[in-house]
Amino acid sequence: MHALSLLPLASVALAAPFGSGPSHSFGGGPDAHDHWFGHGSFRHGGHHGAPGHYYGGMTRAAYFLDNNPNGSAIIALTVGEDGQLSNPVRTSTNGYGAISVNPDGTPRAVDTLSSQGSVTVSGDMLFTVNSGSNEVVMFHIDPRDPSHLTMVGSPASTMGEVPVSVDYSHELRTACVLNGGAVAGVSCFYVDPFHGLSAQGSMRSLGYDFNQTTPPTAPAGTASQIIFDPASKAVFAILKGYAGPPAIPGSIVAYRAENGMIGKEPVRTQVSDIINDFGSVFLSETRLFMTEVSFGAAILDIDYDTLKLSEEEHIIVENQTAICWSAYDEALNTAYAPDAGAPVVYTVNPSNGAQNTPIAVPDETQGLFDSAIGSKHYMYSLAAANAINVLDLEAEKNVQLFNLSSVGDRMPFTGLALWP
Ligand SMILES: *[C@@H]1O[C@H](CO)[C@@H](O)[C@H](O)[C@H]1NC(C)=O
Ligand SMILES: *[C@@H]1O[C@H](CO)[C@@H](O)[C@H](O)[C@H]1NC(C)=O
Ligand SMILES: *[C@@H]1O[C@H](CO)[C@@H](O)[C@H](O)[C@H]1NC(C)=O
Ligand SMILES: *[C@@H]1O[C@H](CO)[C@@H](O)[C@H](O)[C@H]1NC(C)=O
Repeated sequence: MHALSLLPLASVALAAPFGSGPSHSFGGGPDAHDHWFGHGSFRHGGHHGAPGHYYGGMTRAAYFLDNNPNGSAIIALTVGEDGQLSNPVRTSTNGYGAISVNPDGTPRAVDTLSSQGSVTVSGDMLFTVNSGSNEVVMFHIDPRDPSHLTMVGSPASTMGEVPVSVDYSHELRTACVLNGGAVAGVSCFYVDPFHGLSAQGSMRSLGYDFNQTTPPTAPAGTASQIIFDPASKAVFAILKGYAGPPAIPGSIVAYRAENGMIGKEPVRTQVSDIINDFGSVFLSETRLFMTEVSFGAAILDIDYDTLKLSEEEHIIVENQTAICWSAYDEALNTAYAPDAGAPVVYTVNPSNGAQNTPIAVPDETQGLFDSAIGSKHYMYSLAAANAINVLDLEAEKNVQLFNLSSVGDRMPFTGLALWP
């Protein structure tokens, strides 16, 4: 049995939507903020800002996606001076979500996209997917009130089915999207901060028979993530395989950036002992930290001459139940692998893959999903339960469990990104 199927069902709260339709709440948006521009791109779960930078006096925000067949939305929450979340605000994405199904055809109770990076923030831009409408969406974040999102242009067709993950390259001014349905592949878009997204050629093939369905049959064999390396030499699509027997390893499919464009030729790597290639974050230009639900995590080395990867560290995490998502804090020199099925965050030394003491989080979380690290080393995680957990990684102390039952049911919630 696949470990993910052991995930506890999220506690289902009664739906009590705080807003219906594409309305904003503008309450509590103070005007006196320091503007801070020119930061580098923020990676999924990564922390590429100045380490320990203190955003004095500035309102910050956290975002996730309500990936909803009834109409999707970004939920923005204000992040206070003390790192605590408040005041959820809903903004429609003008499209629909798709809910992946279990092998028996029933809808997934949580983790409806099986992906990392369904919401990405870079500079004052936010990108997300309308997984059921096959679209990628771009918003402008108002630096004076980062809960206030304005769509830039219109949602753009991803030319495939069920987009699940999006990443942005500041260097290339390009966003790329991974489609993980019956029509799978990678589509890329030029990004104009005022006019939005325009397709950079047609959808790129994965170069092999991905053999998925629309909606995807999860969790085995689903598309996981798309990610640019820090120098934007290439973009990497990460896809799960099948435990079998016979086992089919997962795939990493790379496309080279040439003359400012993402190439068409897929370069596929399969590592024989990695089946469920999932939440990935760059540790450096040549090293990728990747979680794997059946054993823990791995560190992969990238050869940019060939675009092939090889496994440097195979990190078996004893007693883990479902490590799926990942994050990295450069200043704390630690990679994080939250367990999606138990209230614990595993910690890895990125230099050698050695495991440090795990960090306990509240039992009520039931485990942690999509995670992102912000200032003061606070990690924000969508919980398995209907809540967002805030963990101080430096003090190894929990800060807050923000209950989302006022926002809606847990089921369609996915992704986690921070501004700035
Ligand atoms: C969509 O709406 C239907 C009918 O109101 C409801 O039963 C269902 O739970 C909603 N789906 C989600 C994911 O919110
Ligand atoms: C493709 O998917 C179908 C339906 O799930 C399955 O029967 C078949 O074995 C799969 N083929 C491969 C090569 O994975
Ligand atoms: C794993 O669980 C077993 C049985 O509960 C326990 O004896 C062992 O110490 C645990 N290992 C770790 C690394 O926590
Ligand atoms: C959130 O609040 C609801 C309603 O009060 C409660 O039933 C639920 O257990 C809470 N969830 C968490 C994770 O604390």
